[in-house]
Amino acid sequence: MRALLLALLLATPALAQGELRGHGGPVRALALTPDGREAITGSFDSSAIVWALQAGTARAVLRAHDGAVNAVSVTPNGFVTAGEDGRLALWSSADLAKPVRIDQIHTAPIAALSVSPDGTQIATASWDSSLAVTPLNGGPPRRYEGHQGNVNGVGFMPDGTTLVSAGYDATLRIWPTQGAPRIIKLDAPLNTLSIAKDGRIAAGGADGSLFLLDAQANNLRRIEAAESPLIAVVFSPDSTRIATASSRGSVTLFDTASGKALFTLNGPGLPVWSLAFSPDGKVLFTGGSDRLVRRWNAMNGDHLGPIVIEKPAEMFVSDGSHGAEVFKACAVCHTLTPDAESRAGPTLYGVIGRRIGTASGYVYSAGFGSHDIVWTKETIAKLFELGPSTYTPGTKMPEQRVGAAEDRAALVDFIEKAARPR
Ligand code: HEC
Repeated sequence: MRALLLALLLATPALAQGELRGHGGPVRALALTPDGREAITGSFDSSAIVWALQAGTARAVLRAHDGAVNAVSVTPNGFVTAGEDGRLALWSSADLAKPVRIDQIHTAPIAALSVSPDGTQIATASWDSSLAVTPLNGGPPRRYEGHQGNVNGVGFMPDGTTLVSAGYDATLRIWPTQGAPRIIKLDAPLNTLSIAKDGRIAAGGADGSLFLLDAQANNLRRIEAAESPLIAVVFSPDSTRIATASSRGSVTLFDTASGKALFTLNGPGLPVWSLAFSPDGKVLFTGGSDRLVRRWNAMNGDHLGPIVIEKPAEMFVSDGSHGAEVFKACAVCHTLTPDAESRAGPTLYGVIGRRIGTASGYVYSAGFGSHDIVWTKETIAKLFELGPSTYTPGTKMPEQRVGAAEDRAALVDFIEKAARPR
């Protein structure tokens, strides 16, 4: 009996309940692999991160976009990301160091993307008021025009070819492969869309409404889900529940059949931008403005692990200087203390005077240590004047710049003081 219990305890992944931390900005998009082992997130910090969920650690930081990564998904062999730059980037799971392909699909930000059920096509919705369907293996995208203004949601019906889109023009459009779309006029501008495996459609409105339609896109129901705009909706894998997230941070689960609210998650009250269920429907993942991905019991709404309300200022000791203010953007990924706590980046303790790529116990990206750089106030300032991808090509540190010279000067003064070996 004891042995069995021990075996069960050992089989329970110790870290499987913790938050995923590493992004330097709000977590805008979130998706899980079908086996539930990995997740991909996209952030306003312009990076995507692939996570090993059992360990709760970042496997790779993906960098290909100029600006926010607004949409992410999983393909048969890897991942796909889309951004504010209107581009689509394809990634192979075998080598996440650089994208397999980057396509400029839209002339304005891509707000959402969806991979077809057979994994061969990627649909994108853009603020250039169009949709596009791009073959995964290359070839020109097929365009769908007609929305007036931003298109914020897109998905495939279970037949694998019919597209559904949701626009800020308060319409849902059902696009057959040929001919004109069917246009369903709703009462509110639409921010987000989800299509269930059984073909039901859910759309989230800017007035907090959740709109539900059946698999024929009929029998419209409207549910008052939140008092502020809905920014994410997602069906559970078995289509029986819908999770909704609002710009004020309320996350509520609804029963699809009755439309009744089941429970509301008790989170930190910060905007939640992204939602995903685990493949078995038992865990709900939320990504938000606190830059974390949190895990919740999707059956009763309990938070898995303690609720840590994390402000960047609390993650290091601020001396109240302007440089400490600037360093907030770094603190999610870098500590200033010698204990090798694992964040996405190495500790900066003692960084001044240190050769690049030599913090002990940290696994750098291949080749990072071969740049001929010793970190000084000048070289760190240069790193964020030019941006990591220019100054240290090939790095996995997400692209970011500190634009103003006085901010850079204050930042490196602060690092010199705060990271000085004691
Ligand atoms: C989203 C995570 C993230 C953020 C935010 C971030 N970094 Fe990094 N940083 C990294 C990673 C990852 C590396 C390791 C690079 C590699 O291995 O390619 C790194 C490396 C570094 C290095 C080189 C360290 C060494 O040991 O050679 C310095 C210096 C640095 N970062 C400073 C900063 C500063 C200053 C900021 C804020 C302006 C910042 N970073 C923001 C992730 C981040």
